[in-house]
Amino acid sequence: MVNSPPSLSKTKIGNVALSAYPERLRQFQKRVERALEVRLPPVTKPSSHLHEAMRYATLGGGKRVRASLVYAAGQAVNAPDEALDVPACAVEMIHAYSLVHDDLPCMDDDDLRRGKPTCHKAYNEATALLAGDALQSLAFEILANDPAVGVSNTQRLRMITLLAQAAGSHGMAGGQAIDLAAGGKMLTLTQLEDMHLRKTGALIRASVLLGAQARENPETGALEALESFSHAIGLAFQITDDILDVEGKAETLGKNPGMDHAKGKFTYPQLLGLPGAKARAQELHAQALESLAPLGDNGVLLAELAGFIIERRQ
Ligand code: IPE
Ligand code: IPE
Ligand code: MG
Ligand code: MG
Ligand code: MG
Repeated sequence: MVNSPPSLSKTKIGNVALSAYPERLRQFQKRVERALEVRLPPVTKPSSHLHEAMRYATLGGGKRVRASLVYAAGQAVNAPDEALDVPACAVEMIHAYSLVHDDLPCMDDDDLRRGKPTCHKAYNEATALLAGDALQSLAFEILANDPAVGVSNTQRLRMITLLAQAAGSHGMAGGQAIDLAAGGKMLTLTQLEDMHLRKTGALIRASVLLGAQARENPETGALEALESFSHAIGLAFQITDDILDVEGKAETLGKNPGMDHAKGKFTYPQLLGLPGAKARAQELHAQALESLAPLGDNGVLLAELAGFIIERRQ
């Protein structure tokens, strides 16, 4: 069976204490941290202030769920870890960029992220904007050029297209636009799920599929299983984020709870209540585990990650 309980351990990521991160996934966090460290531009080179802000926003924090999904999905289809470093870095760069922009005053106007001041608070708004822009460019540059990818150019193009679609106006950026436009308005459940699938689900899906595309010609059956898995956990991830905004604590979250309510955001708990939101997350968790069945033992790590995504308190 794939739904064995995750092994839990105490750890700390950046300034945020983590109490329930699956032990076997901590190696992915360490691995992507090292891979990011060498791929982010050094502060010794101009524009050093911008490079510092890019490093500040990306390194030394974050749960690295998306990178872990790249590695776990890649391992599920027997892609080598060396080939997975680049897509893992690319999704974390896009994610870090999305957080920097999400926190800006023109969006969610948050001042705490990953247990430290948000990028625009630590630097300034213009630098944060540029750091996000440059992180996005760098994500695509490494996918296009980094020799560690080790796949054909055709496969690289597939990977670039996957990530571009996930980050763009039909994916994350589009979801963020819906989020901003929805402020204060009622959405239907279908509209809410569509927003969540775009703003968060799209990059989670891309993380899983990029892992699988890091080897030549992954099997269609495995891709279908991963597609269905990523759809369920992508949505579940944002539902849990919405729940944690109500129930979480700043010390563990690394960001201020209660901001969705303060900003009039339309969320799962608001539409379904906390019990309804939790029930929907559980339903999606079960769907995610079911989707992994065709992968057999190769799906165990992904199942652990799914458990963490639902149960996390951070
Ligand atoms: C927060 O993502 C933003 C959402 C898409 C919900 P994470 O909860 O993965 O943030 P980090 O990377 O761990 O800081
Ligand atoms: C952010 O959603 C989704 C992104 C694309 C960054 P939220 O606005 O809910 O994320 P947090 O709660 O600030 O991390
Ligand atoms: Mg937001
Ligand atoms: Mg936000
Ligand atoms: Mg949130």
